[in-house]
Amino acid sequence: MTGRLVGKVALITGAGSGMGRAAAELFAGEGARVVVTDVVDDAGNAAVAAVRAAGGDATYVRADVSSWSDCVAMVQCATDTYGALHVLYNNAGIFPADDGGVLDTPESTWQKVMDINLKGVWLGCKAGIPAMIASGGGSIVNVASFVALVGAATAQIAYTTSKGGVLSMTREIAVEYARQGIRANALCPGPIQTPLLEELLSDPERRARRMVHIPMGRLGRAEELARAALFLASDDASFMTGASLVVDGGITAAYVTPE
Ligand SMILES: NC(=O)c1ccc[n+]([C@@H]2O[C@H](COP(=O)([O-])OP(=O)(O)OC[C@H]3O[C@@H](n4cnc5c(N)ncnc54)[C@H](O)[C@@H]3O)[C@@H](O)[C@H]2O)c1
Repeated sequence: MTGRLVGKVALITGAGSGMGRAAAELFAGEGARVVVTDVVDDAGNAAVAAVRAAGGDATYVRADVSSWSDCVAMVQCATDTYGALHVLYNNAGIFPADDGGVLDTPESTWQKVMDINLKGVWLGCKAGIPAMIASGGGSIVNVASFVALVGAATAQIAYTTSKGGVLSMTREIAVEYARQGIRANALCPGPIQTPLLEELLSDPERRARRMVHIPMGRLGRAEELARAALFLASDDASFMTGASLVVDGGITAAYVTPE
């Protein structure tokens, strides 16, 4: 078998939908054995079915990334089922509708976003790193966002803050584990056409405000992010750690966007 992840075991959190699901299918197509995790069982099982239908190998385990015991169990699933863990893709994240400005965001929303988007990445790493070291090293890919790099007038204060935390956490993990054969990089997607964004952009005015800032004039596709994640996960990125890979259609490069 050929492929950029042949012989690798990859665990992807929140892989029942959007970019995580696209990555599960792509990684399996590149030869990885994939552990799919999510909190929505039907979606996780559907992702596994899609991988298997294409001739790949995947297993689903329910795991809420904000729960330490679930994170331990998902890593255990990888090592029990496939005997190792080489790629940890901390992708799960939420974007609640009532996450808004500093003044109006409820404290409970702030806490939930931090628990899943930020603590969830830490718990994934805390559970996964010992297994990765035991497997001879590997690659951690943490999903941040372009909003970790530039501010938006359409505020989403908890989400933005959580993603900024993912960037600094990723750098520190990269430095701490570099000599043990573990690379850690962050992905910063721009707006990507996934269920997470669909609700937000169903409002035509909000959609137009978003589009005007994207030099490419379109949303990204989940598959385009999955290919960037594949690069970071694979040995193609073997001298890359502590970096932030921006995949945003040019948003963060633009001062003025062409008409
Ligand atoms: N879509 C975008 O425009 C965009 C842009 C930048 C960053 N991101 C980030 O990319 C990642 C994936 O987003 P997406 O657009 O594919 O979203 P999505 O909603 O399509 O998929 C996210 C998945 O995570 C799962 N999930 C939610 N809470 C969970 C938890 N506590 N534990 C485990 N799984 C959980 C959901 O059930 C869902 O299947 C997120 O971290 C998101 O913040 C998305």
